[in-house]
Amino acid sequence: MTFARTEFLPFSRPAIDQDDIDGVVEVLKSGWITTGPRTAEFEEAFRSYTGSLHACSLNSGTAGMHLVLMALGIGEGDEVITPSMTWGSTINMLTLLGAKPVFVDIDRYTLMVTPESVEKAVTEKTRAIIPVHYAGAPVDLEPLRGIASRHDLVLLEDAAHALGTKYGDEQIGSRGTAVFSFHAIKNITTGEGGMVVSDDEGLIEKVRILKFHGLAKDAWQRYSKRGSPQVEIITPGYKCNMTDIQASLGLTQLAKIEKMNEKRAELAALYDRHLSGIEEILHPRAPDYPHVHSHHLYIVFLDLDRVTVSRDGFLAELKKRNIGTGIHFRAVHTQEYYRTVGYGPGLLPETEWVSDRLFSLPLFPGMIEKDVCDVAGAIRDAVAAVKK
Ligand SMILES: Cc1ncc(COP(=O)(O)O)c(C=O)c1O
Repeated sequence: MTFARTEFLPFSRPAIDQDDIDGVVEVLKSGWITTGPRTAEFEEAFRSYTGSLHACSLNSGTAGMHLVLMALGIGEGDEVITPSMTWGSTINMLTLLGAKPVFVDIDRYTLMVTPESVEKAVTEKTRAIIPVHYAGAPVDLEPLRGIASRHDLVLLEDAAHALGTKYGDEQIGSRGTAVFSFHAIKNITTGEGGMVVSDDEGLIEKVRILKFHGLAKDAWQRYSKRGSPQVEIITPGYKCNMTDIQASLGLTQLAKIEKMNEKRAELAALYDRHLSGIEEILHPRAPDYPHVHSHHLYIVFLDLDRVTVSRDGFLAELKKRNIGTGIHFRAVHTQEYYRTVGYGPGLLPETEWVSDRLFSLPLFPGMIEKDVCDVAGAIRDAVAAVKK
């Protein structure tokens, strides 16, 4: 091992500035820390940034997906078309609601579903399509909209990676229904958090009621001077509201999204340059239609034909060299539970090819060029150690 970096470089680190801290402290001192005025302000700022008509905040993207599916009445007997190359939360929510996830394969280079594979999977039982805007690139929305409208299906976009992403000139979230995540590694964070945006006011209203016990009004409406303490449960609901502490972070983070995404783009371009010529490392491709990438993740594939270790073995080599990495994602249909209910390897060849080879390199706004050089140096050194 010839490469040396003394300090561990994590795969991700949130970009928290003094203004983020000041905003949270202000809320803590304000006397109101749960869902309240900051949350309303954040929903409005987010709605305005994405150009959507309506927005509802939650305590995670997963909760957003869950409640939209519930609000749509998706459950027992329904099929929902989705990639397996995604975070397992969507598949878990479908399963918990009694619906059947119908996995479709992806294009190994864009990591996203293709309209052809989606169209083939439509049956009489299909209710919805949930494509994922992957790693910051937009899925090809127009053909998917066509399929949804021809078969009378809901198109529900998983936009967890896509804050600031554009499909052509269209900001993701500005049309239809999309779910965003503010988990700690996302392009903006509230620690944990999520937002559903939609042009369907009725849908957003249902999500709003489901997220807070099924009450027709939230705590701010009950306990503020203008509110009244009486409540009415109009349907059984959950408890997944965002707090004002989180929303304050959301507001200050959202104000910096363009700057932070620019920094991500610069780092991604540096990676492209510093990793070029390493034959053992393969690269996904950006979609060939016009788009703006939010560079949520920088993903590469290990060429297993050229090395003596598995992808996981290679990541252990990088860790020895003080470089953290991520796996986004292992195909959900290969996970233990989903193997026991009839899915499993062999189902989706392109997804499985990707699932065995991909990994994510450190990418966050606080990185400097030397960090990128270190990652590239560690990769070259690790490749030399495991080359066939
Ligand atoms: C593609 C994708 N979908 C959904 C989620 C769920 O979001 P959250 O962690 O906010 O529940 C995540 C993130 O973690 C994700 O990466």
